[in-house]
Amino acid sequence: MKRVAVITGAASGIGRGMAERFAAEGMTVVLADIEEKPLFKLETELRDKGATVLAVKTDVSNAQDVENLATRTIDAFGAVHILCNNAGVVCSRPIWEHTIADWEWVLGVNLWGVIHGIRTFVPKMLSQNTECHIVNTASILGLIRSPGQGVYKVSKHGVVALSETLADELAQINSLIQVHVLCPGWVQTGILNTERNRPDSLQNPETEVDHTVTGGFIRNAHVEMQAGLLPAEVAEHVVNAIQNGVFYIHTHPEHKTWIQARMEGIVE
Ligand SMILES: NC(=O)c1ccc[n+]([C@@H]2O[C@H](COP(=O)([O-])OP(=O)(O)OC[C@H]3O[C@@H](n4cnc5c(N)ncnc54)[C@H](O)[C@@H]3O)[C@@H](O)[C@H]2O)c1
Repeated sequence: MKRVAVITGAASGIGRGMAERFAAEGMTVVLADIEEKPLFKLETELRDKGATVLAVKTDVSNAQDVENLATRTIDAFGAVHILCNNAGVVCSRPIWEHTIADWEWVLGVNLWGVIHGIRTFVPKMLSQNTECHIVNTASILGLIRSPGQGVYKVSKHGVVALSETLADELAQINSLIQVHVLCPGWVQTGILNTERNRPDSLQNPETEVDHTVTGGFIRNAHVEMQAGLLPAEVAEHVVNAIQNGVFYIHTHPEHKTWIQARMEGIVE
């Protein structure tokens, strides 16, 4: 049986890079994203290249949608071997100024999206009793401390803690599921245009948005992102980690000094 990979946030950036790479490796790919147009465009593109592919419109912050994603996958292909909980959004301003809508949106997608993925897919993978892999996309910001992107950072530290616990508990029961947590530095993607995915129900009232703060972050980030990796390079790291049983996937080894500084601060 061909291996089946489910990727959330597959229509753009890192998710798209993983989908293209997995399809090139001959896997069946299930693409999940909230943005319909690029999602179904990618489905057509991959199918034209000969891949077995299914696109399922999914809002990962919605438990029912993730349940539907799993059902559609199992109905179509009978199993799931790789799950990439990758969809993500970002916003930035001083942490005490974030609105309830900011917290609900970013934690809803970045943290609850992964929680829904785990709650839905792990029991199915356990019952299959075949080798499986779960790749949760966190960030280097899930491993370090710094000012800025506070809500995002809370979500990504949460994804790291969730992944560590999941890996340790699955090891405890000798399961065949391996967990990996992807912690990239800058990657050239659509994330700085992230507000395109904010639902109407979680928009900030105009008066509450400090465009100078968020806008300043976005302007600086554009410069840094230009020096970032390509999504295909990140996909290469992911494939290597799956093949070699690597848990923490670092894409920018130079950032390890930041992690070390945080850890030394904690221990001291
Ligand atoms: N780009 C970077 O520099 C970088 C660095 C570290 C971590 N990350 C993480 O990588 C992941 C992918 O982001 P990216 O950089 O490729 O950005 P991107 O904007 O190119 O891709 C994110 C995808 O997630 C989708 N998405 C957003 N909300 C969703 C929802 N509610 N349900 C389903 N899909 C949704 C978007 O439509 C988009 O296709 C995110 O978790 C992000 O936090 C990115």
